[in-house]
Amino acid sequence: MYPPNLRVYADRGQLCQSVAQRIAECVREKPDAVLGLPTGATPIAVYQELAEMCRQKTLDFSRVITFNLDEYFPMPPQSPPSYHAFMRRHLFDHVNCRRWFVPDGTARSAAQVGDDCATYEQRIQEVGGLDLVLLGIGRTGHIGFNEPGSLADTRTRLVVLAPETRADALPDFGNPNLVPSQAITMGVGTILEARAIILMASGERKADAVRQAVEGDITALVPASFLRRHPNVGIYLDMAAAQFLSAA
Ligand code: F6R
Repeated sequence: MYPPNLRVYADRGQLCQSVAQRIAECVREKPDAVLGLPTGATPIAVYQELAEMCRQKTLDFSRVITFNLDEYFPMPPQSPPSYHAFMRRHLFDHVNCRRWFVPDGTARSAAQVGDDCATYEQRIQEVGGLDLVLLGIGRTGHIGFNEPGSLADTRTRLVVLAPETRADALPDFGNPNLVPSQAITMGVGTILEARAIILMASGERKADAVRQAVEGDITALVPASFLRRHPNVGIYLDMAAAQFLSAA
């Protein structure tokens, strides 16, 4: 038997529909909900579903506030592979959300980035903290861009990307030399302070990271494993991502 907070769907389509429903419920219950959002291949269909609900006026994002988990560094916001551009393309050009924030990847000094990371954290606090954070998982077991070695109390900061993560980003850049080696990410501690968390994973490439996160030791070597310390985490998987779980 899977733990009660873990759901397995036949395929990515069903998984994404269910995650979108969960987010929509949160927003309907609390129209000014504060959401943490990822980029990546996995949530694209979730954002399509949310956009469709907004188009049909069954969902209203006008009072929702969102904070993205991460952004490459250095990365001008207007650059096509930026997460700013991704979020516009896949969500914010299609829903009536007025207050959305993505860490600023504009090139500047490390000290300035540090100050801006503190401001990002402060802004989350000022709006009452994160109600719901949606997460993907990397092959390294990362959440946001908290790569192996990230401690449970880390905050928003500049980090170095793992080689596997840079390899996975290659299709968006076309040339390995163009893939940034750094990023700004919300910390594990920032994520764990959210009132609710959804971890979603799809495909066999994620199955090993999912197994380590769900059934392995709780360790900084697999940052997603820290989610098991949180009282309100939903784990949404498709069958391919769940295939190495012992209960499967
Ligand atoms: C991106 C992010 C990452 C991704 C993860 C999975 O904003 O926070 O942790 O969620 O790398 O990415 P996909 O969905 O592309 O497999």
